This record gives sequence, C-alpha cells and structure tokens, in this order.
Amino acid sequence: TPDKAPPRAGDILVHATAAKEGQIIRPSEITDRVIQAWPMGKDQDGNDVIRKAEPNNLVGVQRFRKDSFKVPGEGEHVELKLEGIAEDGIVVYSNKCTHAGCSPENYAKDTSKLFCSCHSGLYDPLQGCKVIGGPPPRAMPQLPIKVEGDRLVVTETFVSAPFGFLNNLDWETYL
Ligand code: FES
Repeated sequence: TPDKAPPRAGDILVHATAAKEGQIIRPSEITDRVIQAWPMGKDQDGNDVIRKAEPNNLVGVQRFRKDSFKVPGEGEHVELKLEGIAEDGIVVYSNKCTHAGCSPENYAKDTSKLFCSCHSGLYDPLQGCKVIGGPPPRAMPQLPIKVEGDRLVVTETFVSAPFGFLNNLDWETYL
C-alpha cells in the first residue's frame, strides 16, 4: 500500500512530530536542528498519502553550509550523495539509528552531530552521517532531495537500506 511504500522521486517531505504532523516542511524553517519528517506521495487516485505506516521511512532534515560537506574517503563505507544535498545545504538522512532503531537528535555538546541516547551512538551528518562514536554498525542512509518552490522534493529513494531492512526484511522487496 502507498502508506508503506518507500520514499520515491516526487514525494514531498512533511512534518512527523505530533504537533505539526502532515504539514509541509518549508525550506525557510530548516536549521542545523534535526526536524523529523515523513515522505508524502500519492495513492492511485491521486490523493496525498503520508508514508508513515512504514517506520523505516522516518527521516531527519537539517541544513548546513553546503561547502562544509566532506566527500568520504575511500574505505570509510559512508554513503553520501552530494547531488542529493539541496543547493542551500539541506540534507536528509534516515532518522533510525542503525544500532537498534532509536531516533538520534542533535548532540548537546556539538549540535552539528547527531546523538542516539539509547546507547550513546554518535553520527556526523556533515560526513554522510558516518558513525563517530558508540555501537552503531554503519552510517544512517541519505535520502536525496532538492528544493522545488517552497517544498522539499525527494529525487530518489534511500541510497542504502535503512535500519531494519538488512536485518529483518528484504530491501529489494521494499523497493
Ligand atoms: Fe542508537 Fe543503540 S539504538 S545507539
């Protein structure tokens, strides 16, 4: 069903937090503070469908200076798709920790990092969300997007499987 389908090209990002759920995220409201979001697509009748029945579709939206992103070096096993970072430095990653699926938030000691309070996992969104501390086994995958008008539009699905798929489900089936 469309509400369980993975994000796909043309989806737009909407707020996931209870107070604003379903509201379209505007580029102007995005800072380096992570905003939780769902992709919203269409059903077969052309109606809007928020793809929130699949928990692995939860993503985090942030903005940094685009020139601050580093292309990962060889051997770092980090997924980073620079063309999926919008011109004004907006970047979107899965918001499911690759250790056990909690949702990382801005790290109090350094807000440019994402901290998972479940077991102290630490990620660097400026380097493809690679793991820089704690037990997570790998980077959180990126969701490539672009800014179109006043909306964030998905340009392709996750660049690798979000948490849960490699362990429990078949990523190919999900796609
Ligand atoms: Fe994130 Fe364990 S679930 S560190």
